[in-house]
Amino acid sequence: MESTKYLLSLFLILSFTIFLSAQQPGIINTYNRPSTSLNGYWKYIVDPYENGFYNYRLEAFENQKDPGKNAFFTNSKPDNPSELIEYNFDLSDSLQVPGDWNTQEEKLFYYEGSLWYKKSFDYELEEPSNRLFVHFGASNYQSDVYLNGKKLGRHIGGFTPFSYEITKLLNARDNFLIVKVDNKRIKEGVPTLNTDWWNYGGITREVKLIETPSTFINDYFLYLNPQDPTRIQGFVQLKGKQLANQAIDVGIPALSVTLPLITNNEGYAKVDISVQQIRYWSIEDPFLHEVVISSGKDKIKEQIGFRTITTQGSKILLNGSPVFLKGISIHEEKPFKGGRGNSEEDANQLLSWAREMGCNFVRLAHYPHNEHIVRMADQMGLLVWEENPVYWTISWDNPDTYANAARQLRELISRDKNRASVIIWSMANETPASDARTEFLTNLSLLARDMDPSRLISAALEQGRYNNDPLIRTIDDPFASVVDILSFNQYIGWYDGLPDKLDQIKWRIAQEKPVLISEFGAGAKYGLHGDKLTRWTEEYQEFLYEETIKMLGTIPQLQGMSPWILVDFRSPRRVLPGIQDGWNRKGLISEEGKRKKAFYTLQKYYQSKD
Ligand code: GCU
Repeated sequence: MESTKYLLSLFLILSFTIFLSAQQPGIINTYNRPSTSLNGYWKYIVDPYENGFYNYRLEAFENQKDPGKNAFFTNSKPDNPSELIEYNFDLSDSLQVPGDWNTQEEKLFYYEGSLWYKKSFDYELEEPSNRLFVHFGASNYQSDVYLNGKKLGRHIGGFTPFSYEITKLLNARDNFLIVKVDNKRIKEGVPTLNTDWWNYGGITREVKLIETPSTFINDYFLYLNPQDPTRIQGFVQLKGKQLANQAIDVGIPALSVTLPLITNNEGYAKVDISVQQIRYWSIEDPFLHEVVISSGKDKIKEQIGFRTITTQGSKILLNGSPVFLKGISIHEEKPFKGGRGNSEEDANQLLSWAREMGCNFVRLAHYPHNEHIVRMADQMGLLVWEENPVYWTISWDNPDTYANAARQLRELISRDKNRASVIIWSMANETPASDARTEFLTNLSLLARDMDPSRLISAALEQGRYNNDPLIRTIDDPFASVVDILSFNQYIGWYDGLPDKLDQIKWRIAQEKPVLISEFGAGAKYGLHGDKLTRWTEEYQEFLYEETIKMLGTIPQLQGMSPWILVDFRSPRRVLPGIQDGWNRKGLISEEGKRKKAFYTLQKYYQSKD
């Protein structure tokens, strides 16, 4: 009898936790909402054995009828001098949030495991009928979130935003928000065990409290119809109690548009505005329209650029005119300091270097970067490739892995779908072709097209030998039939022969689609000089760029490139002493901001393309 009661209560607890975390897809478009920042110093406890999450029988405290005081998320203190409690957040050290833990504490540089954060705060709702959400810009990799000892939910994925409603759990004073972040790499993860970047762990982006009216504008999407640029289409979605027949106003003053809408029973209203004259968003004129969306007590101001991005044969058309993507790949690392980038200052430095090189395009590899960099690209007139971290040897047959990849893609598109600078959603990077993999990626592409009919789909595809001839290359990837842009990485002259091999290579690409070289490059230690066939010299890297640019020019469908990579970046795979020392050296700029000779080679080429 006892065991039945126990099992029933276990089932009820589990289902409530799942319901709680599943029911709130999370508030989005927080950028323009008034908020209360929780950035700053958070207490932390390193917990490699997850002693604060499981009892010694490896049963999760949160699944017990009474989690007891040893569960770290209860933030318990002894009631009397005899009581045994073996942790204390208040007596623990602090970490800066946002920020990875690796570069804040020497002892955490290589740490991969669980670490608990705690932040206390007071909060009073401005209006008692309002709602309150806690919003995380990102936290790598798996985050279990609790408020005042109650589980809010679990988020998996290290590069997309998530949030939970905390209205009903809020105290006026001394709320304690506790997060267990676990950055252990796992085979069925997205990304999987093996990557060529540093596994920065922690609450790596901003945390804020967002107060909303009881019914609020939770989502909206406005875009120019790619096939008919005289129509702005999209939707507005309310969230809350009063959803049906609610009035919404969409205003675009520069277009003298005021569009009254009425929601359906789900709080959804379609947008379809006919606009004759519109100032496009473009590289030369990145004009952003002020858009004001209001409904009931809620009002959101947004800056949206209207443009079309399409393909025609092997051309990429921006607002109907061909564009050549003069790009560079970028990892999200803090310039000069290393560590996960997350600020406007980081974004401004990286994009300014790209602009100095003559770029009109950046490939944000290999995962969603922070929101600052895409909003800054909107303002600077830079085109953007954003990528889901489906990288290398993903567990293609695992349905949970697919669900994870699909959710992260949905979270990315949900966050950035109103950013004119973003023109390409990349499904993956360098994934070994198989039926399971191509089905996995095809399903992701269907999801992306369903959420967003206004952008192009790509991925770093597989390329290989044509008729088994080592000197003739082609794209032999079945996913090529699905994507809009044929992108691929090629390292002839670095992983495949030397740079003097490049002038022997021919390309035979059958598909009549735009071709984008998503990566090529060579490692060079800044300041190391020698002849052009001596590895790791700047001259080798420079020679490879010169020869690669010539070779790529022989591809008739070539419409752009994003060489690997703007800046040297940390990778545990790169251990050559005196040369790499834990850094991937393919940057055109060193981690200290020094430009290598190949920087000027690419700059000269891009300037010649004007
Ligand atoms: C691959 C991969 C990158 C990696 C690069 C390299 O193309 O996409 O993530 O860093 O090669 O080997 O430097």
